[in-house]
Amino acid sequence: MRKLLVALTVVVLGFATFTARAADKKYVIGMSQCNLGEPWRVQMNADVKKAADAHPAELQVIYKDAQNDSLKQRAQIEEFVNSKVDLIIVSPKEAAPLTPPVAAAYKAGIPVIVLDRRVVGQDYTAFIGADNKKIGRHLGKWVVEKLGGKGNVVELKGLMTSTPGQDRNSGFREGIKGSDLKVVFEADMQWLEPNARKEMESALATQPKIDLVYGHNDPGAHGAYLAAKAASREKDMLFVGIDALPQEGQAYVKQGILAASFEYPTGGREAIQMALDIFAGKKPPKETVLESRVFTKDNVDKGGEWLK
Ligand code: FRU
Repeated sequence: MRKLLVALTVVVLGFATFTARAADKKYVIGMSQCNLGEPWRVQMNADVKKAADAHPAELQVIYKDAQNDSLKQRAQIEEFVNSKVDLIIVSPKEAAPLTPPVAAAYKAGIPVIVLDRRVVGQDYTAFIGADNKKIGRHLGKWVVEKLGGKGNVVELKGLMTSTPGQDRNSGFREGIKGSDLKVVFEADMQWLEPNARKEMESALATQPKIDLVYGHNDPGAHGAYLAAKAASREKDMLFVGIDALPQEGQAYVKQGILAASFEYPTGGREAIQMALDIFAGKKPPKETVLESRVFTKDNVDKGGEWLK
């Protein structure tokens, strides 16, 4: 009897230490950011960090910056797999080149949360991001209304090998369908303000009448504004962008530089919450769609207006 009791105590104590250890386990998250050269991406990492820092005993995040290089980002994901992190968060630069490493990580049993830009296919754990097509469509409709159904538009597109660029383009085209708006100049500025400025110089040189510039992101719209200002034509046209960070797009709206900025939430906080849920054994939804607001001069001080 005594022997049995001793044996039982040993088992119970052993189990208690085991569960305590399991609860104490610090999970390692590898976060691969496609670049940190733009305020929006810096904000995403800050959102991830703020959410993760609220769980110091449970989470450790390793941050990597792919510096706008798909090959580098691919290698980062492979490194995370080799070092056996518990979960990967990736905001991919481009869909096609990042698909194989994400799929390989997922198939190796590491949960992968894809943030903001998509990969091709379904070989990842979960995607979190706003609906770029919907944002583009709302933006298109907003422009049609603002310009009274007609006018000349310049479209400065985000990287067209990334899904937000593709969706912001196709959504916008849907939104302006049936109107007399003409896209008189379009170019891929790859999300980058200096490129947008250069492309806008070409648009200004070839187009005598421009009523509005649609930048797929706020840096793009701002670059276009700077080019128009240098040519003393900024007052002849409106500028509209996407992202609406308080310190960037919303500030431009307040300053009268942008007529509107559409919010593109980073999803950083949601990604960490999802990681915690996964570690707790919950199965996350495959798709989490984040909501978006539009900010204009009239509503920016009231927190914008939600897109329906
Ligand atoms: C930053 C950025 C944002 C844009 C997002 C799209 O790299 O260009 O401005 O909204 O990426 O993925």
